[in-house]
Order: sequence, then C-alpha cells, then structure tokens
Amino acid sequence: MVSPSHPNATEIGRLDGKVVVVTGASKGIGKATASAFAAAGAKVVLAARTRETLEQVADDLSVGGVSNPDSILVVPTDVTDVDAVQRLIERTLHVYQRVDIFVNNAGIGHFGPVVDFAPDDWDTVLNSNLKAIYLCAKYALPSMLAQGGGQIINVLSIAAKVAFEASAAYCAAKAGALALTKVLASEVRQQNVRVTAVLPGSVHTPFWDDVPQHPDFDQMLKPEHVADTIISICQQPPGMVTEEIVVMPPLGIL
Ligand SMILES: NC(=O)c1ccc[n+]([C@@H]2O[C@H](COP(=O)([O-])OP(=O)(O)OC[C@H]3O[C@@H](n4cnc5c(N)ncnc54)[C@H](OP(=O)(O)O)[C@@H]3O)[C@@H](O)[C@H]2O)c1
Repeated sequence: MVSPSHPNATEIGRLDGKVVVVTGASKGIGKATASAFAAAGAKVVLAARTRETLEQVADDLSVGGVSNPDSILVVPTDVTDVDAVQRLIERTLHVYQRVDIFVNNAGIGHFGPVVDFAPDDWDTVLNSNLKAIYLCAKYALPSMLAQGGGQIINVLSIAAKVAFEASAAYCAAKAGALALTKVLASEVRQQNVRVTAVLPGSVHTPFWDDVPQHPDFDQMLKPEHVADTIISICQQPPGMVTEEIVVMPPLGIL
C-alpha cells in the first residue's frame, strides 16, 4: 500500500503550471533546462541577453509541441544589470502573477593566469557568475515570500571547490556563489524557500567554443544530464531540500 504522504508516479513527474524563470536559457545547460521544464508542464520564462536566440528556443519548443506558446515567455535580460533584472521579474509577474522556481544558470568563463588577466575581464566574470545571482535572488524573493514559498536553483560549477589553473576569476566567482547560496538558504528556509547549489563538472556546451585548451568533448556531461538533475530536485516532495549536488562525468574531473 502506498503511504498517503507519498505522491504517485504521475504527481512526481509533473510540474504543471509552475512558473519557472531560467537565465542563460538560449544555449547549453539553460536551453536544455528550459526545455525539460516545458516538457514537465511548467510555464517557462526564457532570459539571456540575445533576443534572437531566445526566440529561436521558444519557437523550437512551440513548433516541437513541447510547450503551448502561452506557456513560454521571452524576456531579453542582462543579469548583471540591476534594472534589467527588475524588469525580468516585473514582466514575469505581469504575465504569470507568480515565480515558483528561479534557475540562476547564466554564466561565462574567461581564462588565463592572474598575471596576464585583464581587470575588465575580472569584473565581467565576477559580475556574470556572482553578482547576477545576488541580483536575481534579491528581486525574485519578494514574490516567493509573499506567495508562501518557492525554489531557487543556482547552477555553479565544481570550480567552486577545486582550484583550476588559469581560472582564478571563474573559481573565485563560483566559490563566492556557493557561499552566497548557503547564506541565502539559511536566510529563507523558514519562509519555505528551498535553495540549491548544482555543481557540474565539464558539460559539452557552447561555453567551450572560445577555449582553446579544453577537455575531450566526448567525455563531458551532456546539458540534458544537468537539466534532468535540476528537474528532479524541483520534483522532490515539500518535506526535504537538496542543498548542494555535484554532478560529474563518469571519468571525474577532465
Ligand atoms: N559547460 C560547462 O562545462 C560547465 C560546467 C560547470 C558549470 N557550468 C556553468 O553552467 C552555466 C551555463 O553554462 P553553459 O555551459 O550552458 O554555457 P553557454 O552554453 O555558454 O550558455 C551561457 C548562457 O548564458 C547566457 N548569458 C551569459 N552572460 C549573460 C548575462 N550577462 N546575462 C544574461 N544571460 C547571459 C548566454 O546567452 P547570451 O550570451 O545571449 O546572454 C547563454 O544563454 C554557467 O553558469 C557555467 O558557468 C558550465
């Protein structure tokens, strides 16, 4: 006999009607995550800087029958820009009236030894991978708190925990983002907001397009692996929270 507190298989699989914002939704992990949420029945807000690529993702989801066009919203957003982040939340609330899940996924890498690393690149990496998570959490949280709960998923990296040469800005940003995630989780857990850090190893995405020395693409995770991990976290029953999860290729750090 199934315990009354144990949801049945169909309840576990669906996220029908949940309003989910995914940043960096035009490519790689974000695109796969947006697609997985749409397939699970969620209303998905696609955010990244480039309107054309976001609209292509929205078209693919609609034409492919994964999602109803009314359940996909494109909001071009630079997540390092405070005004743009506020507009992202305002537009989401205007169209869907709530934010259930916010996936902080947008991020970039610039690589090189500290001695050669340009100060502007440092600011770009820190703003994109760290400050953006603070901004998005700050402006998404009021609606979650008002509606009685929500979920924030921060896509970080194993670089939050491991020192990779020529990656000081990226490692510092991801380590900072892990600290931010832990503080945030402790600040809002009493208000029923669940906060999770997802730390993937190498994933085969356009992230690596401009990195000359990269690991073997064939050995990397696929973006769908990370997307499936995020979906499964969001399908967990209310009585538990995954605070941190490391997802690695089978061969470990590549
Ligand atoms: N690929 C890996 O091996 C790997 C491993 C561990 C963790 N991660 C992390 O996973 C996340 C996604 O990476 P990915 O591999 O999917 O990268 P990706 O394929 O390069 O995609 C990055 C996405 O972020 C968006 N983006 C970048 N800067 C932005 C900004 N300022 N505002 C809004 N959107 C922005 C990009 O679109 P626009 O350029 O149009 O804005 C794009 O949609 C990142 O946080 C990355 O650090 C990646």
